[in-house]
Amino acid sequence: MVQSYLEKQVQELSIEDIQIHPEVLKFIKPKKMDHIEYTMKRFGQQMPVLGNMVDGTFFITDGVVRYEVAKKLGLETLKCLDINIHNEDVIRVRMTSNQRTKMSYIEMASYAEHTLGIIGTSQGKQRNDLLGMEIFEEDENFGLPGKDRYELTCHLLDLPVKASTLRKLIEIKRFEEENPGNKIGILKGLDEGIYKVDKAFQLIKEKQKKELELGEIIQRTREGRAADVSYRLFNKSSLDLSDISDNSVRMFIQSPPFYQLRQYRNQTGCEFIHGQEGTVKEYIDNEMRFYEGAKKKLLPNGVLVVMIGETYRGGYQGVCTKMEVALEENGWEIVDVNIFAKTNQKAAPHEGRFLNSYERIIVAKLKGAGTVLFNDVKRPSSIGEFKVIPGSSRVTGGCGNSMASPISSITNVLTTSVFQKSEYSKIDDDFYHQAPTSVDIYSVFVEAYSNPGDTIGDMFVGTGSGLVSALERGRSGLGWDVDIESIEFCTDRLDNCLKEREQAKIGLSIAA
Ligand SMILES: C[S@@+](CC[C@H](N)C(=O)[O-])C[C@H]1O[C@@H](n2cnc3c(N)ncnc32)[C@H](O)[C@@H]1O
Repeated sequence: MVQSYLEKQVQELSIEDIQIHPEVLKFIKPKKMDHIEYTMKRFGQQMPVLGNMVDGTFFITDGVVRYEVAKKLGLETLKCLDINIHNEDVIRVRMTSNQRTKMSYIEMASYAEHTLGIIGTSQGKQRNDLLGMEIFEEDENFGLPGKDRYELTCHLLDLPVKASTLRKLIEIKRFEEENPGNKIGILKGLDEGIYKVDKAFQLIKEKQKKELELGEIIQRTREGRAADVSYRLFNKSSLDLSDISDNSVRMFIQSPPFYQLRQYRNQTGCEFIHGQEGTVKEYIDNEMRFYEGAKKKLLPNGVLVVMIGETYRGGYQGVCTKMEVALEENGWEIVDVNIFAKTNQKAAPHEGRFLNSYERIIVAKLKGAGTVLFNDVKRPSSIGEFKVIPGSSRVTGGCGNSMASPISSITNVLTTSVFQKSEYSKIDDDFYHQAPTSVDIYSVFVEAYSNPGDTIGDMFVGTGSGLVSALERGRSGLGWDVDIESIEFCTDRLDNCLKEREQAKIGLSIAA
């Protein structure tokens, strides 16, 4: 074998003939020695120390730590390379030889994988086991290599990170491998020093959580399409809910006749004409009677959703606020009050006030009931993809970073149009209803507060928009209305809905 030039020049000198160069001695600082000590003990001296040979004494210019370790370990000799430089050049040469490019985080992770012996060994679940990636919260779980080996790797490679950080770094590298081109931007921020490993790791976890949520939504939508659904309508007052079983309804959602606003037809099936009461108090008291009956029909973690608008007859009446208070006083606990802002509100007289364009949608559960079933409803986000974005959090003063996702949570201000006739004109173009609700507004609550297979009730069913929304999403429906024409129209509309569902199912099975 041909010896390299370097090897030929390297001499094995006695420790006693070696000293630190006086120029270097001026700058010597205590240094971390244990990783070099470990390597020298295990593998011997790999690299020669550099210096000048002057009259039989070797003056080290580069390699002081190796020299100190050799003395500590009691070694008798050290490999030395005479580079024969002038005193005035010692510091310059030393600087040049020490000048290494700063190791990028991914480099660190790659070297560590090699050292841990886990490079390219396996993928997915197997690799998770190997690295202990599943249980990052447990600081002691480091997978098969064990914490010691991570610590050792940090020492051996002289990494400026702890074992737990190294483990996260390896997970970040794995993420990078699945994210070619660094499109999501986690590594960019890390390598640009915008944040540290812990934050980068947190961003990955954020992405994984959001992907999981996305998966759950897709799964629920599939289940919604496949579920067997049915509906029942009752042409009578919903003060009487005796036709249905107790504990069977996940959600009652309805828009009752608003106080003193519209005159509905066929309002004879009830002891009073609801909405035409003489005072707000009477109106609210009657509302509470309807919802009293709903209590025992609800599942224990079910909800009552009331879509209610204001009345300005004789000035502001505070109907919505009074409704909230009455619910609280009648055994309900308000979960939230959402605002439905209408984009196509009709002009109406509004002296001394702005044109009103909102309704409140009150969600309540029974007092003392457990946590309600809730699916956070998402819509396509403005960012439209997974991406690290500068945060605007008040906590971090706007300087944090967060993971944007293709979808984001909707807020409790729902901005959408009021009902448009096109929603049901294909069923019967001649049908008229005084105050139909749009399917869209129901859908938000159907998705949020119920799952496919559940049953949803609408105590003032009208044109049936609520139950259309339920059936389309794989929930069964129950509806009440005193108006026979509404019930007849609603029957046609819901039958059509079921037919379309069946056709869609056939279409899906053919496509599959
Ligand atoms: C605001 S509308 C509901 C509209 C419905 N959300 C839709 O999408 O078409 C109120 C409905 O309540 C009905 N109604 C009035 N009093 C009732 C009662 N005691 N029981 C059941 N329905 C009643 C009316 O006939 C009317 O159709």
